[in-house]
Amino acid sequence: MDSSCGPVLWFTGLSGSGKTTTAQHVYERLIAAGRKVELLDGDMIRSMICKGLGFSREDRLENIRRIAYVADLLARHGITVLVSAITPYREMREYLRAHVAGYVEIYVKCSLEICEQRDVKGLYAKARRQEIAMFTGISDSYEEPEQADLIIDTQQHSLASNVIQIIEWLDGHVWET
Ligand code: PPS
Ligand code: MG
Repeated sequence: MDSSCGPVLWFTGLSGSGKTTTAQHVYERLIAAGRKVELLDGDMIRSMICKGLGFSREDRLENIRRIAYVADLLARHGITVLVSAITPYREMREYLRAHVAGYVEIYVKCSLEICEQRDVKGLYAKARRQEIAMFTGISDSYEEPEQADLIIDTQQHSLASNVIQIIEWLDGHVWET
């Protein structure tokens, strides 16, 4: 990785796996450490530059391509970028590996069963009632990452220990001193 380029920490995982929460906490830690950081969350981005995109395969690919473009621009200016977006297809992650300088894939691992039990937004229940089409894990696929740089397990481990795992990984792999 070009040392002037910030890392792009890309959190991929099922809806409700803990991508947003974990990324937000890592963000706070990095800000407190004086780093320049930006956080791009799928839900938030979809109300702005990805407004109008749905959840068909094509729209999801377009969503990820647009986020990748912005993340790469920021990273090239030395900003650490955190992205939380489902990023369900292998094809997308291959694209990111090839097009985003500083791409670090973080798989936020949690079983579908537990995500569905948590059902923080009530979306799984709606998907089961077929009120939402193409819902990841229910009626659309989530292809498990096979080349993740880092796997955090939100089912077995606490938020605090996952944040530490990520910070320690960054200290060891990106910001070696
Ligand atoms: S993707 O696949 O990477 O383009 O998705 P992303 O941009 O991260 O958006 C996921 C959030 O959109 C809500 N939502 C859905 N998710 C998956 N499938 C369907 N059909 C769907 N419809 C709406 C949901 O709030 C996701 O947020 P998270 O934080 O993942 O739960
Ligand atoms: Mg989220």
